[in-house]
Amino acid sequence: MTNFDTNIFESLESEVRSYSRGWPAVFESASGSWIRDENGRDYLDFFAGAGSLNYGHNNPVLKSALVDYIVGDGITHGLDMSTVAKRDLLETFQDKILKPRGLDYKVQFPGPTGTNTVEAALKLARKVTGRSSIINFTNAFHGMTLGALSVTGNSMKRAGAGIPLVHATPMPFDNYFDGVTEDFQWFRRVLDDSGSGLNRPAAVIVETVQGEGGVNVARPEWLRALADLCAEREILLIVDDVQMGCGRTGPFFSFEIAGITPDIVCLSKSIGGYGLPMALTLFKRELDVWGPGEHNGTFRGNNPSFVTSKVALDHYWSDDTLHKSTLAKGDKIHQAFTELANQFEGSLSTRGRGLVQGLVFDEPENAGKVCKLAFDEGLLAETSGPSDEVVKLLPALTITDEELNHGLAILADATGKVCS
Ligand SMILES: Cc1ncc(COP(=O)(O)O)c(C=O)c1O
Repeated sequence: MTNFDTNIFESLESEVRSYSRGWPAVFESASGSWIRDENGRDYLDFFAGAGSLNYGHNNPVLKSALVDYIVGDGITHGLDMSTVAKRDLLETFQDKILKPRGLDYKVQFPGPTGTNTVEAALKLARKVTGRSSIINFTNAFHGMTLGALSVTGNSMKRAGAGIPLVHATPMPFDNYFDGVTEDFQWFRRVLDDSGSGLNRPAAVIVETVQGEGGVNVARPEWLRALADLCAEREILLIVDDVQMGCGRTGPFFSFEIAGITPDIVCLSKSIGGYGLPMALTLFKRELDVWGPGEHNGTFRGNNPSFVTSKVALDHYWSDDTLHKSTLAKGDKIHQAFTELANQFEGSLSTRGRGLVQGLVFDEPENAGKVCKLAFDEGLLAETSGPSDEVVKLLPALTITDEELNHGLAILADATGKVCS
């Protein structure tokens, strides 16, 4: 039976839709940290396109470069052809990001999403080492395609695969045992024990802060020990910086805090700058064993993203202003969350780094209730974690202090209502 419902989203769009359920409004325009619905109601955005809008909605500096490029008939779809926009981006990425950090990476343009760069990283690690198995971590999230899903923890998402997800073995993420068990005790043991049943891994894939997994923050010393272990055993280290890269935790790459150099790095989300799809896979020069066209994709050359990406790197990463302000704003949220945690001791705790901060509810359903109340008051915030027990804040890095205060006041009020 044909059902021409008046609500086209319900009648025509698949049941798979998700954010539109938690935020039941029809959005029309956006600027900076604000997004407006079709009735003219403004919402403060503490989610920033799940970390794709680190520089805010319709950032004017990026917009003006994009508009000029489009008006000038610049290449829009470029396959992986050499273009002026791609050259400008590569040169800027080299000068502003790689060189100052002493990183001698080659740059691959995979398909333009996070899961695409993860697939490229896993494939490359397997090709380089000739091994198939990958080590991932508890509560990891790496994407929805089969390879990325195989190294993702969430059981609901994994079940969606419909086939066995193989060749990945989970290890405990930092603090999985609340500090009771020595870091990497299990990992080392199974690596060394020829009876453990663990196939020698090609690579380890890790997020320095697990965003979807509940804002689980790996300590720098844990990351260093992981990097050392990988180097010792000739296992490649992949850092998935899709959500935590591009300044989310302060520095451009989230692993900089640990002083490590991963073998492979995955970037997407905010690397395009403007919220346009784009991804990069970076790897040490000697790992570039790809044959021409061996890993392909029609949308690897989304040139308008290259334009906004380049301008964002020039504008925000020529000095450490953004890095510092991200840490300061992160501290502000941390303080506000700590006050709430003290006020509702036993029901709440907090964790995060830079501008990814989580408010963790002992009763998981309270996190969702807080987000719902916040939405009613004009604030977009989302939950994360295995039981959706964490209110996760990912505001634009360009958010003002007044905007932060405004949103934090809404959250404090909502938390008070839910927890009292
Ligand atoms: C760490 C990480 N990796 C990969 C992905 C997948 O990115 P995408 O949804 O663009 O495929 C995400 C998405 O949230 C992510 O947070």
